[in-house]
Amino acid sequence: MNTSWVEISGEKLKHNLRQFKALLSHNTLLSVCVKANAYGHGLVECAKFMAENGADWLNVNALYEAERLRKAGIKSPIYVMGYVPLSDLHKISELDLRVVAYNLETLQELEKIGKTVRVHLKLETGNNRQGVREQDLPLFEELFANTKFVQLEGAATHFANIEDTLDHSFAMEQLEKFKRMANRLNVKIKHCANSAATMLFPETHFDMVRLGISAYGMWPSNETRVSMKSAGKKVELKPFLTWKTIVGQIKTVPEGEYIGYGCSYRAGRDVRVAILPVGYYDGYDRGLSNQAYVLIRGKRAPVRGRVCMNIIMADVTDIPEAKTEDEVVLLGAQGEDEISAEQLGSWIGTINYEITTRINERISRILV
Ligand SMILES: Cc1ncc(COP(=O)(O)O)c(C=O)c1O
Repeated sequence: MNTSWVEISGEKLKHNLRQFKALLSHNTLLSVCVKANAYGHGLVECAKFMAENGADWLNVNALYEAERLRKAGIKSPIYVMGYVPLSDLHKISELDLRVVAYNLETLQELEKIGKTVRVHLKLETGNNRQGVREQDLPLFEELFANTKFVQLEGAATHFANIEDTLDHSFAMEQLEKFKRMANRLNVKIKHCANSAATMLFPETHFDMVRLGISAYGMWPSNETRVSMKSAGKKVELKPFLTWKTIVGQIKTVPEGEYIGYGCSYRAGRDVRVAILPVGYYDGYDRGLSNQAYVLIRGKRAPVRGRVCMNIIMADVTDIPEAKTEDEVVLLGAQGEDEISAEQLGSWIGTINYEITTRINERISRILV
């Protein structure tokens, strides 16, 4: 048995997808990003469930993720959004995938393989990571005019500054550039909308949206939440990941003694400590040392001392009913209280995306 595990609520996941379906027009595809182990929620478990409950397409970053989905029998269209090394490109048609392209080398290699393959051209509109610059577009137009096997199915871009701000003028400039560039191409599927764009700007939906964080019931940022409110728009996102462990031991540390490596916490009174069999190896960030809380018996217990590789210590002095093998919530709700990914992120200066994606893949994800 695992000493920590992740529970996924299928009902809440369904709620989120239903809500986004209702937001989109009937001819816009709903694609969900299941990269990074489905944002930490469990790649195969979530992808399967999403495909059965409204996700039209699944988006992965890497080929190995697509391979795992196909091996699990998932038949949905899969779009690979990250770089595929030239030597692996033959797998795109073998696994019946779509792939992003933004360089000539990838397209030339795909054509050389000699199997029909559908690609989506990534257009540079201001993010300056993947993407073809506007002045280079003629080179690609010429190439597509002469390919026999490579079919240009889609045109895509990605917003640089849409969730981190209340000022969406840069995003709107990107949108105009995207329209101008994409209109030069003969493509069936134009797409650019991530979660924030999907919720805030229907004009970004085009033929498909690429939802990530919001499909998992989390907000892309507080700014997006505020922008939605100012615009009088409403969505109810339900997070559905609960990361749990159990109490391995309860002991009393006498006043004046220290707890853990580096003697970073000194007991100011006799402290009842719960020893939890989970640590930074599992994805519970070491920065949470002496910062975070966990939930035991529905109450907050502060983390004391340094987070270790496989162990953390929590103060249950004020939870006298706590005992060995009690269930502990590291992330999610218990009783009336909840530790959100946003809150964990705020304790260590990061975002909810990083908190959930870093939960070790080895930990079981259980659909409940
Ligand atoms: C290309 C691309 N599209 C869509 C998304 C989804 O973004 P979000 O999780 O903000 O919805 C991402 C996320 O990183 C992405 O890289």
